[in-house]
Amino acid sequence: MPAGATSAGHRLVFLGPPGAGKGTQARDLALEWKVPQVSTGDMLREAVAKQTPLGRQAKATMDQGALVPDDVIVGLIAERLREGDAAGGFILDGFPRTLAQAEALERLLRDLGQPLTRVIFFDVSEPELLRRLTGRRVCRECGSTFHLTSAPPRRSGVCDKCGGRLYQRDDDSEATVRHRLEVYTRQTAPLLDYYQSRNLLSSVPGEGDVEAIRAAVRRVSEPAR
Ligand code: AP5
Repeated sequence: MPAGATSAGHRLVFLGPPGAGKGTQARDLALEWKVPQVSTGDMLREAVAKQTPLGRQAKATMDQGALVPDDVIVGLIAERLREGDAAGGFILDGFPRTLAQAEALERLLRDLGQPLTRVIFFDVSEPELLRRLTGRRVCRECGSTFHLTSAPPRRSGVCDKCGGRLYQRDDDSEATVRHRLEVYTRQTAPLLDYYQSRNLLSSVPGEGDVEAIRAAVRRVSEPAR
């Protein structure tokens, strides 16, 4: 963290189905709060692009819209959260996604003495998720996200923020998106009860103006007084 900067100390999970806007919100709030955005999807895609052993192992699973094995993901997160920049807080984006991952996270954060401060669920209807994902375009250079109709770049195929080339993720075809939504319902949605029973869950409406959603996330992230 740069000298003089202060961290908000948030230790958050952004939870929600594919396309709910977790990445869009996490990217900007992480900058604002000076905490790292820890996205398992981005970490895996980077490993795929670099053709590391992890990337080679994960690619086929990701292309099918299935989940990478829990032990692989938990190992990745355990290593990432032990890095110095996570000591002042973090936003977990796309993790945990199964009960086994949630339990492993709880143990890890207990060991680190850094329990979660809040879990934020982004509530978005299924037709809207399909519309968002099939029209999503991502910058190859900086990871910024656009949408062909609702958040189009100023120049077609070019990132507004860094001038990088935009591409469509391999798992954003309609058939794969439908499968990802089924996987979410079966394996990830049970985490809502898990976190509700620990009094950690807050829900925000995930549809509408991006800035209004961000303001709602800010509100529910504040520690209870
Ligand atoms: P991952 O990359 O985590 O994908 P995901 O959870 O499916 O989430 P997305 O990135 O698709 O959606 P998002 O909620 O971030 O939405 P976004 O902000 O981009 O995972 C990919 C794969 O990696 C998995 O399928 C799995 O194989 C593997 N993996 C990852 N983590 C794993 C784990 N923990 N365990 C096992 N396997 C794992 O927004 C979507 C679109 O909507 C964009 O175009 C955006 O511009 C637009 N948009 C956003 N907000 C709004 C708004 N308010 N109004 C209109 N449009 C909006």
